[in-house]
Amino acid sequence: MVLSIDQAHKILKQGGVVAVPTETVYGLAADCRRDDAVAKIYALKNRPKFNPLIVHVNNLEMAKRYGLFNDLACKIAQHFWMDKPMPLTLVVPKNNENELSLLATAGLETVAIRVPNHLKTIELINQCGFGLVAPSANRSNHISPTSSADVRKSLGDIPILEGGRCLVGLESTIVDLSGTPALLRYGGLPIEDIEQYFGFKLALHSSNDVIKAPGMMKRHYAPSIPIRINAVNAGMNEAFLGFGPDAPASVTLNLSAKGDLSEAAANLFSMLSALDRSCYCGIAVMPIPNYGLGYAINDRLERASATV
Ligand code: TXA
Ligand code: MG
Repeated sequence: MVLSIDQAHKILKQGGVVAVPTETVYGLAADCRRDDAVAKIYALKNRPKFNPLIVHVNNLEMAKRYGLFNDLACKIAQHFWMDKPMPLTLVVPKNNENELSLLATAGLETVAIRVPNHLKTIELINQCGFGLVAPSANRSNHISPTSSADVRKSLGDIPILEGGRCLVGLESTIVDLSGTPALLRYGGLPIEDIEQYFGFKLALHSSNDVIKAPGMMKRHYAPSIPIRINAVNAGMNEAFLGFGPDAPASVTLNLSAKGDLSEAAANLFSMLSALDRSCYCGIAVMPIPNYGLGYAINDRLERASATV
């Protein structure tokens, strides 16, 4: 289904998902403020894990709604996003006054942001007035799509904003500015260009290392109380996070009373966060079935229960 910008806007405003063109690859976009919309991305991509997503904005001003930009970050964003648009994603501390979906950042304290260099998608973001999270518009383990035909091949007949072939064809370069500037992913903007601009060499980290490193996992949703998974009932003073229609009446919250995994994914981070209170000694979580988004939910819960 090929859409006009108006139609794409309408779908996104209602919490739907649209494939959008960028200069790097096509992205699968949703409203960055809505957990339910973001969960649809994971479901469509069949992602086994909740990797944090990049928020796509139309300019530095909108970027500041979602991230905190110090002088260096402002300077780099102004140069590589506004003056001389390049495929560069910046990781900065999250602006906690914002309305970002917790699922979009997978509970991290930082957020990845970029300005896509594609007129149609910029016009779409202008109309929306909110940022779009967008991973590449392909199923997990498929190659990143550089045309709408690629998107269709991988994801079937989903709504697409047609924007021709992607000129860069390689994902954006990711630089972490939330601490000592570090390169997290090689991509469409050569690292020499960035280093020349910085005037010093970037430290190297693989994005995966950072996300998987045990120290980071704590920051990746970090409940301050222990999580106990596959629980049949809650112990004394434990919060009880249920799932499905068979959950006992004693559950504190239910990820999805109808047993819908997409709804459960959308609620996961916000409910864990709501139960992360000093009046509880821990959070017991009922078993979540291991299929579809259940894999990603269980992956996340296992990590969270292991790192406390
Ligand atoms: O070119 C691109 O960047 C494309 C187009 C669609 O914009 N998008 C893309 O998204 O490649 P995705 O989801 O495939 O890759 C996002 C990367 C992941 O490696 C993720 O771990 C990293 O960004 N990332 C997101 N938020 C992060 C954060 N707060 N800290 C560190 N890494 C982060
Ligand atoms: Mg990707």
